[in-house]
Amino acid sequence: MLDDLGRPGRVLLLGGTSEIGLAILSSLRAPASTQVLLAGRDEQRLAAAGKELPFSAATVPFDALAPGTHQAVVEQVFDGGPVDLVIAATGVLTPQDEVEREPMLAAPMIDTNFTSHVTTLLTAAARMRAQGFGTIVVLSSVAAIRPRRANFVYGAAKAGLDAFARGLADSLDGTGVRVLLVRPGFVTGRMTAGMSPAPLSSTPAQVGAAVAAALESKAALVWVPRSLAAAAGVLRAVPRPLWRRMPR
Ligand SMILES: NC(=O)c1ccc[n+]([C@@H]2O[C@H](COP(=O)([O-])OP(=O)(O)OC[C@H]3O[C@@H](n4cnc5c(N)ncnc54)[C@H](OP(=O)(O)O)[C@@H]3O)[C@@H](O)[C@H]2O)c1
Repeated sequence: MLDDLGRPGRVLLLGGTSEIGLAILSSLRAPASTQVLLAGRDEQRLAAAGKELPFSAATVPFDALAPGTHQAVVEQVFDGGPVDLVIAATGVLTPQDEVEREPMLAAPMIDTNFTSHVTTLLTAAARMRAQGFGTIVVLSSVAAIRPRRANFVYGAAKAGLDAFARGLADSLDGTGVRVLLVRPGFVTGRMTAGMSPAPLSSTPAQVGAAVAAALESKAALVWVPRSLAAAAGVLRAVPRPLWRRMPR
């Protein structure tokens, strides 16, 4: 169970090689006895990532595009003992021009960024509800706030995820289980390699630090950077004829 400083004992990272997910783990002020379970599809890279962490790490096979397996994957983790923290960091960013050229490419992007979180987190939430404690961190995005023509398929998947996370949080109210919704802006790293950084961009380490700090508070939502909250208000207010001409 999370202690007074929000330090967990057993943690599941879905998307176990995620730069942001691993940065969150590295930022947790948790004891070395913390057990981390890195769930993903590439055993070797998961194991290598685990070696870099200051905790004991194990790997769990997980394919976001195999929804029929999700319940069993999560149940198996909880069957091994209570889980204090689940971090949902699975994601993929397929460029908008590619999905417009080849619409079938949209399906795995939506399933990875949205559907897989619904199936895994509904299972995790049920087990945490039964435990009576636990925290679920959901990595949404500023892209969820308003669809941009340059990125609206990814944005639509993130908007679905963001809505799901807020509904999940409400459904868990009073159960002892908490959802922390994270809305980063542009984060420099593997997912955005080759793209020019947007204003108010951050690094995985900055997202990790912000999430670790939020876990130690009672926050339900964290923007990274914090100033993005105000900027998002402005983005929402831009008149649509102007908005649709935005280059990115
Ligand atoms: N980077 C940004 O600018 C940014 C901004 C806002 C929000 N986010 C969100 O933050 C989360 C983490 O992003 P990141 O920057 O850490 O990206 P990342 O380093 O590319 O991590 C993405 C993770 O998703 C995993 N994944 C993708 N498809 C999968 C599948 N079919 N089955 C299992 N795992 C799969 C990847 O595994 P593999 O190693 O096997 O590919 C990797 O672990 C994502 O949800 C992303 O949308 C990112």
